[in-house]
Amino acid sequence: DRSIKIAPSILSADFANFGQEIRAVEAQGADWIHVDVMDGHFVPNLTLGPPLCAAIRPHISTVMDVHLMISPVDAYIDAFAEAGSDIITAHLEAGPHTHRTLQAIRGAGCKAGLALNPGTGIEDIAYMLDMIDLICVMSVNPGFGGQKFIHSQVEKVRNLRAMIGDRPIHIEIDGGMTPETAPLMAAAGADVLVAGSAVFRGGSVSDPAPYGENIRAI
Ligand code: DX5
Ligand code: ZN
Repeated sequence: DRSIKIAPSILSADFANFGQEIRAVEAQGADWIHVDVMDGHFVPNLTLGPPLCAAIRPHISTVMDVHLMISPVDAYIDAFAEAGSDIITAHLEAGPHTHRTLQAIRGAGCKAGLALNPGTGIEDIAYMLDMIDLICVMSVNPGFGGQKFIHSQVEKVRNLRAMIGDRPIHIEIDGGMTPETAPLMAAAGADVLVAGSAVFRGGSVSDPAPYGENIRAI
């Protein structure tokens, strides 16, 4: 369904070739580029920071969708904005002042995203809906690519869609998206699907056609 956007996560790309990987995956039909930032504190893994975002920005012709799995968040917002992020998503669990964080993201000129871990309910976002451009529902526990889809998140997306009503807020799903699980989330009301391992498997910058086949299969 092409009204659903696919956002490949470069976490599953060749780290020595980010520029070429991004151009290859965009040429193969990627709608957005999803960038996973991890701090070894909020999540048990380390990835990349603002200088790398700035370095890959010229290779992205679509949307740079930056997912911050870091705590604290606020001190780094300006750096990720200056690196060229279009969307900056922070975690509700990174707290404590999510409302202020969302204000700061928009204040830095970016769209504001809010991510929820699988164990987090949707009630706590009710009074922030007018400050949010995207809600990222984690369908794995954040930290690693290639994990198994957590099925309980389908109902969360359905409830979230009802809560959002006609507000212009994207519902993005992150984790475990495959040709089997993606349709469940699309039917529940998601409109952006992040996929790492399911997009990059089987291909490379010298043989990128599998990226396109993988994207179309999701
Ligand atoms: C997980 C990251 C995801 C991850 C998705 O912490 O936020 O974006 O890369 O990878 P897959 O699609 O392999 O589950
Ligand atoms: Zn992510």
